[in-house]
Amino acid sequence: MMHLDANASTPLRAEVLEAMLPWLRDGYANPSGTYAAAKRARQAIEQARWQVAQWLGAVPEEIVFTSGGTESVNTALHSLDRHAGPGPALVSAIEHSAVLRRAEALPRGIRLAPVNADGRLDLEAFAGNLAGAGFVSVMTANNETGVIQPLREVCAMARNQGLAVHTDAVQAMGKIPLQVRELGVDLLSLSAHKFHGPKGVGALYVRSGLPFSPLMLGGGQEGGRRSGTENTPGIVGMGVAAAIMCKQAAVDHHAALRHLRDAFEAKLTDELAGVTVNGDVNHRLPNTSHLSFDGCEAAGLLILLDEAGIGCSAGSACMSGQQRPSHVQVAMGIDERRARSSLRFSFSTLNTTGEAFAAAVMVKRAVEKLRRVQGSGVGPVQVYCV
Ligand SMILES: Cc1ncc(COP(=O)(O)O)c(C=O)c1O
Repeated sequence: MMHLDANASTPLRAEVLEAMLPWLRDGYANPSGTYAAAKRARQAIEQARWQVAQWLGAVPEEIVFTSGGTESVNTALHSLDRHAGPGPALVSAIEHSAVLRRAEALPRGIRLAPVNADGRLDLEAFAGNLAGAGFVSVMTANNETGVIQPLREVCAMARNQGLAVHTDAVQAMGKIPLQVRELGVDLLSLSAHKFHGPKGVGALYVRSGLPFSPLMLGGGQEGGRRSGTENTPGIVGMGVAAAIMCKQAAVDHHAALRHLRDAFEAKLTDELAGVTVNGDVNHRLPNTSHLSFDGCEAAGLLILLDEAGIGCSAGSACMSGQQRPSHVQVAMGIDERRARSSLRFSFSTLNTTGEAFAAAVMVKRAVEKLRRVQGSGVGPVQVYCV
């Protein structure tokens, strides 16, 4: 299968698996123990903490390991809620559901900051929404469109109002250069499976000196900031994946990602009419291509592409067997027809240029086939969503 769905998850790197195996097989000692095997596990965790901190430009004490992006986000918003002044949580309208559902559940309430038609935060509207807010959460880059948000400006504006900022960097980390001090964020969420690490492990950056309240209470692991016996193999895997990403960033693998995505998009748009690139092309993750195909139902395309051996995602949300515009597309004002005809292709550095070209050919074929079947308009295609 050709995996063009890196924003959903990435393959585990061979080096990461190798590093994890001894901890899965023999390294079962509880890192909180006092004997030699337990101390070795503790050391391995601290090594991983150093690796993640190094990648982010943070210090190890600022890194808290979690069970993934969702837990990191929930912890961040929980803690901000505990320590922020009154006023709703100010979050962008295109946040991942982890942020949106958590913020909605807070008694303080939620205020949505709109985005422009290109999927970027409307900074003027954001500035207008800051007054009276309690804290801010704006994602670094969007998971559907790949659009990179003006986070530096957001942090500067929030700081002027004395508000703390969390960013969900689950999609951005590893695809664009990110350093926490340059950004000026207070909290940042990460997930290992988005950068060739294992699933079920993530991290939360907590700026030194920021008041913090844990979400998970219990045995007091992670310096009391996240209780629960540490997932040693997962954390070791995350550390190695982060270290590889950090090394690759030095040789600009972001450019390699851009080359793959651009080769795919250029071939497709050169050879096929009626293709729209969604989102701000000047501020996009280098790996993400969110495209609408005139006269095609995305659900039908997904089936044809699956048959051709390509794994990608619908750009819209599947609800009750029908494609509906996602909240991101709604926030961007993308009409229903264009939303229902959109697909997201997302590359990782484990993809090849050959794959990018082959995928463009297969997508072109699938679109042409579907257009023939469906005629000029979007026809009824029966699909079953899982
Ligand atoms: C932007 C964003 N935030 C959070 C998450 C949740 O991360 P996890 O799958 O590790 O819980 C995802 C996962 O797709 C995501 O894309």
